[in-house]
Amino acid sequence: MSVPAQTRRTPADFLAARVRNLAPSPTLAVSDRARALKAQGVDVIDLGGGDPDFITPEHIRRAAVDAMNAGDTHYVASPGTPAFRQAIAEKLRTENGIEADPAKGIVVTPGAKAALFEAILALVEPGVDILVLEPAWVSYGPMIEIAGGRAVGVALDPDDNFRVTRDILEAAVTPETRGILINSPNNPTGRVLAADELVAVADLAREHDLLVYADEMYEKILYDGLTHTSMATLPGMADRTLTFNGLSKAYAMTGWRLGYVAGPPVLIEEIAKVHSHSVTCATSFAQAGGVAALTGPQAFIGEMVRAWDRRRRMVAEGLSAIKGITCPLVEGAFYAFFDARETGMDSMALSDLLLREAHVAGTPGVAFGPAGEGHIRLSFATGDELLERAVQRIGDVLGRR
Ligand SMILES: Cc1ncc(COP(=O)(O)O)c(C=O)c1O
Repeated sequence: MSVPAQTRRTPADFLAARVRNLAPSPTLAVSDRARALKAQGVDVIDLGGGDPDFITPEHIRRAAVDAMNAGDTHYVASPGTPAFRQAIAEKLRTENGIEADPAKGIVVTPGAKAALFEAILALVEPGVDILVLEPAWVSYGPMIEIAGGRAVGVALDPDDNFRVTRDILEAAVTPETRGILINSPNNPTGRVLAADELVAVADLAREHDLLVYADEMYEKILYDGLTHTSMATLPGMADRTLTFNGLSKAYAMTGWRLGYVAGPPVLIEEIAKVHSHSVTCATSFAQAGGVAALTGPQAFIGEMVRAWDRRRRMVAEGLSAIKGITCPLVEGAFYAFFDARETGMDSMALSDLLLREAHVAGTPGVAFGPAGEGHIRLSFATGDELLERAVQRIGDVLGRR
């Protein structure tokens, strides 16, 4: 029996509400316009992305090529090759002070993004609130919503250097709160959580029985002698922390798609189920490159960080000389997050103006939550000359102090 024509479903009737209701990314409007301008032949300087401007070191590339040529072109163990999980466990133990069981406490994923997505899908459901410190990376909220949970934005104050305090956290806790997501060094603010801020989060988690999702993606991109402390190493936190990391930023391996999550086996087991039924495994020969990255020479990272440090200073100094802009020196990661509230423009209007008139594409702060309003994020993981030109052009449009 066929369905009468007037009651037939249109393609739009097949959309799942949990995705249909997701807010489209505010960054899309800007990147679409940047692309359109480029297609018209306009010389747009795109500082919207988060991709190191270095090629993956040779020894890592060679390890992957050798693996592929040796026939490593098949499915591998779903949670990751034993060699790569062993290398990750060793790295976590020696660099972070985290004890992760390579057999049961780690899942290797195609990028840290997939690790976060799989973990949230495994552990968040309707009726679960997760606190997200804002400004926050754009994908946390949508991931939580897709899982059916609620992302509760915790607005950090730009006039207090986006500091995390126990009072701010406490005020955001709801009866449904089950977790808190932290990201240090932070994208987009560049803040590195200080010891007292880490303690505030840990105390909150212990007292309210919360799980901490610790995104440590930028742990190696630190300036001015700062060091990274993993949340899982704070007293009592190993059993209630999932540590997320990946090779994209520290090893200039964004296109390889290699990341991982480490934590208590009882949680990892659930994440591994989602992983096995979705991506199966991260790419076999990419994992061979991952082993070379983690176990090989590390000096390359210092060279990249030195280049980014130089650009960080140049961008902060150059932007701060522009009317209405304050650009503090970030503590970590490779983004400038400049404060343009004095221009009187909101971040969408300002990023639009900069794209149209300065031909510089940056990400409006509001894309990272309401707490990012009045700011623009510019990636400085790009060439010195291009950055100098971008700063010059922004100054030409907004005027100088
Ligand atoms: C804060 C943060 N977490 C996670 C990721 C995901 O990185 P990947 O999936 O390349 O490992 C990114 C990438 O931009 C990021 O900025």
